[in-house]
Amino acid sequence: MLIIAILLIKSLFIMIKRIGILTSGGDAPGMNAAIRSIVLAASHFDIEVIGFYHGYNGLIDDNCKPLTLRDVSSIIQLGGTILKSARCPQMLQPQGLKQATTTLLKNKIDALIVIGGDGSFKGLLSLQDHWHGQVIGIPGTIDNDLDGTDYTIGFSTAINTALDAIDKIRDTADAFERVFLIELMGRHSGHITFNVGIACAAEQVISFENFSPDNAKETLEKLAADIHAAKKQHHHSYIIVVAENLWQGGITKLADDLTTISGIDCTACVLGYIQRGGSPDAKDRILATKMGVAAVQGLLDGKDGFMVCEQNNSISYLPLTLTIKHTKTVSESLVRAQDNILALTAKQNF
Ligand code: F6P
Repeated sequence: MLIIAILLIKSLFIMIKRIGILTSGGDAPGMNAAIRSIVLAASHFDIEVIGFYHGYNGLIDDNCKPLTLRDVSSIIQLGGTILKSARCPQMLQPQGLKQATTTLLKNKIDALIVIGGDGSFKGLLSLQDHWHGQVIGIPGTIDNDLDGTDYTIGFSTAINTALDAIDKIRDTADAFERVFLIELMGRHSGHITFNVGIACAAEQVISFENFSPDNAKETLEKLAADIHAAKKQHHHSYIIVVAENLWQGGITKLADDLTTISGIDCTACVLGYIQRGGSPDAKDRILATKMGVAAVQGLLDGKDGFMVCEQNNSISYLPLTLTIKHTKTVSESLVRAQDNILALTAKQNF
């Protein structure tokens, strides 16, 4: 009885009538599923949702519109974001933050939910110094690099899309017995590269976790020796997946360097933005839906300055300050398994 009374009193104090939402930074498959889930959950609690367009620019320019159940009725399967997205450096400047605050006050927003990555959460934290509404972040980025959550929305779809593309490239690589170097996204982290590399049985995975620019020459020599060994053993194809922003001069330069040192033609292929688009897979739709509901529930429970996260299949909340402190590292066991076991054994068993 007492607990129910306390909860009732608490909920009387947390009066949220209007939630603002925006999607920020690189779009990720599943962002729309999260928007839908927020609107559904908010509607359940009689809360209005205002969508701001083009990331934080929507706050700066007061570009927004109420989101109804009808607006989100057929968006769960759509990639990209119906609210559009952008990077917004102005959110780190006092003038931008002031304008954003004015818009939030003008539109009588009680709480703001931002779906994005670490850059977006830095903006949210800066906003807290100027505006006193509640804020919550939902991790939406294909990079999966946010500390504190096992998965970010969009990662699963991105790795499946990349896998599908590389399986196709493998056909050509086999047919022509050719060496391919394939560049994957991830900014400065190797979650996509390592997971995709392992799933497509790449002969080599090169990412920030197992490469240092100081050893660039040794890496080239080792790769060249390994390609020759594979050729001797009549490997049909040889695929190297490489993280973007890793090799000075990019993947085309790496392919050229490897061609020169090995004397064997190496073809570069940048998968690029294909990894960011497309319909979200079931895993991302479900994760986004769970996180959208949890964001609204968290706000009603008084959470402020938190990111919704999923750890060991259970939804929880982590202070935003902790999520941006470190970049989430790639599982060491994954890196070791690829480098010490898979890359070597696949060759021996051929
Ligand atoms: O954060 C998602 C991401 O696609 C990264 O993997 C990539 O490095 C970056 O965004 C590219 O950003 P932009 O589209 O702004 O160039």
